[in-house]
Amino acid sequence: MSTYDARFRVWRGDAEGGGLEDFTVEVNDGEVVLDIVHRLQATQAPDLAVRWNCKAGKCGSCSAEINGRPRLLCMTRMSVFDRGETVTITPLRAFPVVRDLVTDVSFNYAKAREIPAFVPPAGLEPGAYRMRQVDVERSQEFRKCIECFLCQDTCHVVRDHEENKEAFAGPRFLMRVAELDMHPLDAAAERGLDRRATAQDEHGLGYCNITKCCTEVCPESIAITDNALIPLKERAVDRTYDPLVWLGNRIRRRGERDAES
Ligand code: SF4
Ligand code: SF4
Ligand code: FES
Repeated sequence: MSTYDARFRVWRGDAEGGGLEDFTVEVNDGEVVLDIVHRLQATQAPDLAVRWNCKAGKCGSCSAEINGRPRLLCMTRMSVFDRGETVTITPLRAFPVVRDLVTDVSFNYAKAREIPAFVPPAGLEPGAYRMRQVDVERSQEFRKCIECFLCQDTCHVVRDHEENKEAFAGPRFLMRVAELDMHPLDAAAERGLDRRATAQDEHGLGYCNITKCCTEVCPESIAITDNALIPLKERAVDRTYDPLVWLGNRIRRRGERDAES
């Protein structure tokens, strides 16, 4: 087994401010960045704050930025860096710092709560649901999400624009809207909920300019842009420009005006 000393630069601080601190830490074959953070805690910085749970790429809690790129600490092998390179570890930039590498990601939970859940079809018990395999597979891809929020962190719409957060749900949650809108058994429309309209009007779908940065950082390799955001945009545009939808909206609006007068 080979061992070497590597240079690390780690952000330390809290909501009031902070800065990068330099460390030299032992690295062994097969280790990941989270191993190094644990060794740092054990040897030089016992109060270094980091959030983690599974160390297996499944809980989504060890998200941070390594050399400026959003990554899972537990799934980033030290072998991807040159031995002479300084590895810089910083907290997620799009969310407020709590302490050191721990950020407050409650923005994401607030956005999750804004999306109405799956609406079961009337008159069908769950065991009686039938779907085509292609529809099952589409949902399954989106359901691989581990809620690490790396996609939310990297998206330029909010990364440096706090002011956009209120109007924009971010890729993870627009993907959730897309999943539900494409779900063949979702009965939201029958209850008067237009998921495509809410994607545009309430979750900021129009802010996304399909740069695919979210897709590039997803540790589950979900094709967020190609399989969720672009189809949702197409469906939303169909809704806007479909002449029957346009006529229906016009008649509905006229009916509402007549009822008010
Ligand atoms: S594709 Fe859209 S959601 Fe994804 S990072 Fe780019 S702008 Fe953000
Ligand atoms: S879509 Fe991918 S990057 Fe975004 S929260 Fe889910 S697993 Fe993380
Ligand atoms: S510790 Fe669970 S994903 Fe990294």
